[in-house]
Amino acid sequence: MRFSKKIEHMGHSPIRKFHTYAVEAKEKGKRIYHLNIGQPDIETPPVFFEAVRQFSEPVLEYMPSQGIPSLLKEIRDYYRRIGVDIDEKDIIITDGGSEALQMAFTCICDEGDEIIAAEPFYTNYNGFLKSAGGKLRPVTTAVEEGFHFPSKEAIRAQIGPRTKGIIVTNPGNPTGVVLKEEEIDWLCELAVEYDLFLIADEVYREFVYDGLEMTSFGKRRDIRDRLIIIDSISKRFSACGSRVGALICQNEELISHAMKLAQSRLSVPTMDQEGAAALYRIDPGYFDHIKKEYQKRRDVCYEGLKAIEGVICQKPAGAFYITAKLPVDDAEDFLIWLLRDFEDRGETVMYAPASGFYETRGLGRQEIRIAYVLKEEDLRRAMEILKKAVEAYRAR
Ligand SMILES: Cc1ncc(COP(=O)(O)O)c(C=O)c1O
Repeated sequence: MRFSKKIEHMGHSPIRKFHTYAVEAKEKGKRIYHLNIGQPDIETPPVFFEAVRQFSEPVLEYMPSQGIPSLLKEIRDYYRRIGVDIDEKDIIITDGGSEALQMAFTCICDEGDEIIAAEPFYTNYNGFLKSAGGKLRPVTTAVEEGFHFPSKEAIRAQIGPRTKGIIVTNPGNPTGVVLKEEEIDWLCELAVEYDLFLIADEVYREFVYDGLEMTSFGKRRDIRDRLIIIDSISKRFSACGSRVGALICQNEELISHAMKLAQSRLSVPTMDQEGAAALYRIDPGYFDHIKKEYQKRRDVCYEGLKAIEGVICQKPAGAFYITAKLPVDDAEDFLIWLLRDFEDRGETVMYAPASGFYETRGLGRQEIRIAYVLKEEDLRRAMEILKKAVEAYRAR
């Protein structure tokens, strides 16, 4: 028996691969501050659970493949409130943003086709692309420049005959970068010039700090027929386990193709869609408090990192991640040492080594991604442990 080349070329998640070291550390009684996974600890709004409890149909039937009408309407209304004029027919409800990404790549990639992304990038893009037969072509960005695109020409230089699209994560994971207007212009202009799809992954849309305004690609009229928005309730409403997302596109042909995939998997779980519809009815003021909380946490992490001699990082403007360069040779080795050999009063920390977020071999070896999804006092303690650990590691 033989496995497919596609699956053989796909890697395991670089975020989860240190799990066994963490399990061993915990078995030895160590407490670990988990800064490695983007699982928010903010309470899921109770209206989700109330909607599920109120469900009174006697049979849990398949729902329409596109999604339940009430959720489609709530998402349309939400988009209109943020100035993006879409209709229900432009939306397909998906099994998280993850399924929307898989659908988008499957619809636009043939074997060997390429999608451009800034590196470091959300690592699952690679897995989804490979399973769709595509390949990721990176535009390298650097911590010293706050992970912004170096120039329009640097993006253009990666566009080749097999390029089918550009994917952008705004605000970014793992970088927390929020694109400047100028960068949005470059991306839209290049997509039009080279006739490419533009996939805008905006699952962190609400989380922008310091009074910054986030511009959705959905507001751009010039890319209306080539824009695919990836969306999700996972981060927006701290509901990762509900697995509800959306693919949004005003290109009728693309929606029609994506519907073939939606129909073949029949439907997204009914109860989760009911709960999600209730979440979208929440007053938009809900995000003010959440934003303040994340901004405070971002500041704790950033200041904690800056207090470590030799660390290079810029203050990110969005999402809930910081990628920083540590004064160590290899962030993976350092992480294993943190879990196996280090402790401060019985405690240690875990982060995601950033090399797995790069396509170009050798890049990101000294970098780490921190997800600031812990309470403020835990984050303070985690940053204190990280500082002590870097100092001890370098003094060995
Ligand atoms: C940038 C980005 N896009 C998409 C996803 C997929 O999330 P979900 O499938 O939970 O909606 C994630 C999850 O971490 C993410 O960070």
